[in-house]
Amino acid sequence: MDSIVVTGGAELRGTIQIAGAKNACLALMPATLLTEEPLTLMNAPRLSDIKTMTLLLQSLGSEVQSLQDGRVIAMSSLGPINTTADYDIVRKMRASNLVLGPLLAREGHAVVSLPGGCAIGARPMDIHVTALEAMGAEIELRDGYLHAKTTGGLKGAHVPLRFASVGATENVLMAATLAKGTTVIDNAAREPEIVDLAECLSAMGAHIEGAGTSTITIEGVDRLGGATHRVVTDRIELGTYMLAPAICGGEVECLGGRLSLVTAFAEKLDEAGIAVEETNTGLKVARRNGRVSAVDVRTEPFPGFPTDLQAQMMALLCTAEGVSHLEETIFENRFMHAPELLRMGADVEIQGGTATVTGVERLKGAPVMATDLRASVSLILAGLAAEGETVVNRVYHLDRGYEHVEEKLGAVGAKIERVSEA
Ligand code: EPZ
Repeated sequence: MDSIVVTGGAELRGTIQIAGAKNACLALMPATLLTEEPLTLMNAPRLSDIKTMTLLLQSLGSEVQSLQDGRVIAMSSLGPINTTADYDIVRKMRASNLVLGPLLAREGHAVVSLPGGCAIGARPMDIHVTALEAMGAEIELRDGYLHAKTTGGLKGAHVPLRFASVGATENVLMAATLAKGTTVIDNAAREPEIVDLAECLSAMGAHIEGAGTSTITIEGVDRLGGATHRVVTDRIELGTYMLAPAICGGEVECLGGRLSLVTAFAEKLDEAGIAVEETNTGLKVARRNGRVSAVDVRTEPFPGFPTDLQAQMMALLCTAEGVSHLEETIFENRFMHAPELLRMGADVEIQGGTATVTGVERLKGAPVMATDLRASVSLILAGLAAEGETVVNRVYHLDRGYEHVEEKLGAVGAKIERVSEA
């Protein structure tokens, strides 16, 4: 298993190119099942999660080609389509559950393994199931698999979500494009990845209104065509790299970044004493003065502060002046980076869903363990500012969501290298 070794202390200067959004691409790829015509995605990120989704779609009978060194994904699903998404693939990546809606819409039946829990929480699928049942699906849980079918096809319906689940919104959005009649999703997720998916589906011929707001209306059509779609910039990778100069000084421009993708996050950085300037090529980030100030953060569905940037923000606040409180409201167990930060000399106390972080002058490098995707990158960020050497183990978590992190950070002056163990 590879490790990443970071030697702290260097100020960072230069530019970092932000890639296409993992969480948009993972929702866009299953849309190939909604049409027999070619669907091509540009600006795709080169990540192991994308490879996992590729394997899943190929196992269902889709043709998926990775072109231009992974930047372009060319797909077509002429059929016949296998409608069973196997546990072996689904357990590796929860986003595999995003084939449920498209399979139901296209074939009228699907067998999709429940993803199972993951490091950050139980992550059930009740919201997906309730929503699709409202559209006429009959769904039964048997042997760890969701067995779903519709007699006579999905029907448009009023679909109130008890929580603005991103994945459930995406599954319903895709299913509704081919349902008979009109579907209205209430309390829909508003993430930019939802807007990106809606734009792609509209280019394929879907009739969608309101994506990006809490109410999305979809008028079903008989069939969808193909499209070529450019994946939206990854706002979580963007926020992660904005924190690099914030944590260890210097100035970095994140190319492709737009303030509209990270408004709540940028406001918190501003409050902490970090200047964020939107240029015509990206977002330029630098500390306003010496030490960062403590701030309180509460994660919320978009447009609130993203849960996927909570771990990274904690790394920054570990060296801020004063006491910060981070409240995690989306997942029940998303503080696994805290014990690892403690090993680096941080002062973090967890009570239920709130972490109290008392800033220290400087962290100390240490061997630490990555536990999940965003926790692993928060340890790298902490290592950039720490005194001495930090070795982050199990970086396969990192490779799920960050392409060539050591190259991107190394290019702006970080002392960072990947060590491949035999
Ligand atoms: C998406 O996961 C993202 N993944 C996650 O990013 C992100 O953290 C999450 O949205 C929240 O923004 C992808 O887009 C591939 P949810 P998703 O359904 O769709 C509970 C990363 O690091 N819930 O909005 O699975 C659930 O347990 C990943 O890139 C139910 O209870 O998130 C969680 O507590 C991590 N029942 C909360 O809602 C359901 O049926 C949010 O889940 C569905 C969800």
